[in-house]
Amino acid sequence: MKNDLLLRALKGETIARPPVWMMRQAGRYLPEYRVLREKYGFFERCQTPELACEITLQPIDIVGVDAAILFSDILVVPQAMGLEVQLVESKGPWLPDPIKTESDLKRVRIPDVNETLQYVFDAIRLIKKELNSRAPLIGFAGAPWTILCYMVQGKGSKTFDEAKAFCYTQPELAARLLQMITDTTIAYLKEQVRAGADTVQVFDSWGGLLGPDDFENISLKYIRQIVQALKDEVPVIVFAKGAWHSLKPMADTGAAGLGIDWCITAGNARKFAGDNITLQGNFDPAKLLSPIPVIQQEVRSMIKAFGNKRYIANLGHGILPNVPVDHARAFVDTVKESEVHFAAMP
Ligand code: CP3
Repeated sequence: MKNDLLLRALKGETIARPPVWMMRQAGRYLPEYRVLREKYGFFERCQTPELACEITLQPIDIVGVDAAILFSDILVVPQAMGLEVQLVESKGPWLPDPIKTESDLKRVRIPDVNETLQYVFDAIRLIKKELNSRAPLIGFAGAPWTILCYMVQGKGSKTFDEAKAFCYTQPELAARLLQMITDTTIAYLKEQVRAGADTVQVFDSWGGLLGPDDFENISLKYIRQIVQALKDEVPVIVFAKGAWHSLKPMADTGAAGLGIDWCITAGNARKFAGDNITLQGNFDPAKLLSPIPVIQQEVRSMIKAFGNKRYIANLGHGILPNVPVDHARAFVDTVKESEVHFAAMP
């Protein structure tokens, strides 16, 4: 592979500079993406390997990131499990028939991923061919708790109170659903790897809504199973936004990397997670709206704070749609220029 910085950082190798990519880098801040968005529906873009491939490669070609992340969505899993999922313009995800009761659970199944999600594996094979070893490809899935949030709440939410109420009032039902999502996700990620994904990231976007004990019982317990099932095949990155209190148990799952949001210092993240894991983050996505000189300065201090060992530069959550492309490029270029600065460090 011509650029294997990401994989080397995940292995803990000493490298000249940190690799850089951005969560949600294949998306609406790119004019080239918005052109395709006018012509095709969201899930049509996910389900057509040629479109998914083109969108996946856009940030590599346009912004110069060190890794590609598959263009898809975490919500293709609930779809494959039998639920209808729509993406409503300016509203976000919409599941018309969410899970509330035991009888609703009868509509959910553990699918054969090769039947229901074949289009994802076809997209991965095509992307690998078109990438032609220029950079690694990151596969991904949602964490079971985050998927349950959408399956039960039926839409986005600040609190996901209905999803929490489901877990707190019907814990056995919730455990059954979480286990079904976990089993599906393990099969799904294993097939992503078989198709060519070089590493996989588990997104627990709503992990931070749970306190430490609930995070263990409702989220991490299932993430741990996923990491254990995958870790001997590829390095696994776990990103649980807001769950800084559990960085230590997350590091103990066997993950190779941990995503960090911007609400914790680099020093504390390292202290909690320990030295044996790669940290990835943690630029505040809204800071990409700052003037370019400010972005450059803040990126330099972020890199200095994380140090040159076991570190991947990234945002602390997904890039916002209103970020100018030259600001995203300034973020990436500043990390790349840190090579000189790194070489000077002891
Ligand atoms: O990182 C990448 O660029 C790869 C593609 C990717 C998408 N979604 C494409 C997408 C990835 C990794 C995701 C993950 C995802 N999807 C998460 C976890 C990460 C996070 O941001 O917390 C979540 C919670 C979702 C669910 C989801 N999908 C929401 C809430 C929305 C609507 C709001 C939004 O952020 O746009 C989507 C739609 C979606 N997924 C878009 C893209 C590019 C926007 C679709 C469009 O309007 O064109």
